[in-house]
Amino acid sequence: MQLLRSFTFDLMQKDDFEEIVFFQDKGTGLKAIVAIHNTLLGPALGGTRFWQYETELDALKDAMRLAKAMTMKAAAAGLNLGGGKAVIIGNPKQKSEALLRAYGRFVQSLGGRYVTAEDVGTTLEDIRIIAEETRFVTGVKLDPSPFTAYGVFHGIKACLEHVFGDGSLDGVRIAVQGLGKVGGELVRLLVKAGAEVTATDIDAERAGFFKNELGIEVVEPNEIFAVKCDVFSPCALGGVINDATIKKLTCKIVAGGANNQLEAEKHGNILAKKGILYAPDYVINAGGLIAVGREYEGITDEGRIKEEVEKIGDRLKRIFQMREEMAKSKVYSTAKAADAFALERIERIRSLKKIYQPLS
Ligand code: NAI
Repeated sequence: MQLLRSFTFDLMQKDDFEEIVFFQDKGTGLKAIVAIHNTLLGPALGGTRFWQYETELDALKDAMRLAKAMTMKAAAAGLNLGGGKAVIIGNPKQKSEALLRAYGRFVQSLGGRYVTAEDVGTTLEDIRIIAEETRFVTGVKLDPSPFTAYGVFHGIKACLEHVFGDGSLDGVRIAVQGLGKVGGELVRLLVKAGAEVTATDIDAERAGFFKNELGIEVVEPNEIFAVKCDVFSPCALGGVINDATIKKLTCKIVAGGANNQLEAEKHGNILAKKGILYAPDYVINAGGLIAVGREYEGITDEGRIKEEVEKIGDRLKRIFQMREEMAKSKVYSTAKAADAFALERIERIRSLKKIYQPLS
């Protein structure tokens, strides 16, 4: 016990976590971990992942990794939100109403320090059940995926402007990996704007659907990296930019919706050395978070949220500019510049002058 405690504190101290909460309910079989990384900017928002982890330590580490990423993502998106994430350990196919409601009660007990939403293994229906027991949920009214796609679309335009001096998509060749909720909507926006899209999906039926609907070219999943294009847009899995795939890329820009696109930090540098501009994933794919964050504040006007999502393009331009400044000290990766951009905002807010306010 002593060992476990000191081990968990070591993990927490390494990335300066505020709080880790373990919840269990024997009757329903609930085992959940909520990781609250940082609430300096606001409540820690992050989805609840339902997953059959091999070990409890894997679950803890996953919750912590994802929570920390949410701190950076919210900060870079200009939101007044902190970073948190929850995992429920178990088979997502075996969840019950009682388990979800028990979980909702525990989330409520955190008093709003953690706000939950949908994630891998949880559905909108699950979130609605959780919401029976807690008001600290969001993403119930607005579907985040179209906003994510819209943000990626504007991010791609900003990258084109940076590289080619022109943000127009007319005739631009784009290879899209993954035609799911984000990739599918992105392809619609790209085709409408005049881009020439080549895409792939492991689900051949899905790929065929988009080929018929939009007249795009479709290739096999393993062929997408070598497609001759201006922009490669990963919208499926993480880790797709790695030693093997980088060699195949012919593009000038990597900009897509997938999370954790770089397999390792070094791949950000390798892309830079190859002269490929990388749009840091958590900056370009923040449209969905912006939407659910605003929904939590009671704002559901889609037009207003879209205007805010469009600003992802300006943020990327600022990050590219920062990277150029950082290159003087031999930092070439735009992913590193994005981290500096997010941390700069957190530090700016941390250092706000503490003026006296009477208690209300
Ligand atoms: P999704 O599950 O709807 O779509 C993923 C698609 O990729 C599926 O159609 C799947 O068949 C395909 N796919 C999987 N492996 C593939 C491979 N090796 N080659 C080609 N296609 C493959 O998921 P969604 O929501 O579109 O998310 C896509 C990515 O964007 C994920 O990495 C997700 O974490 C990230 N993301 C999604 C957000 C959202 O609002 N939905 C927000 C931020 C990030």
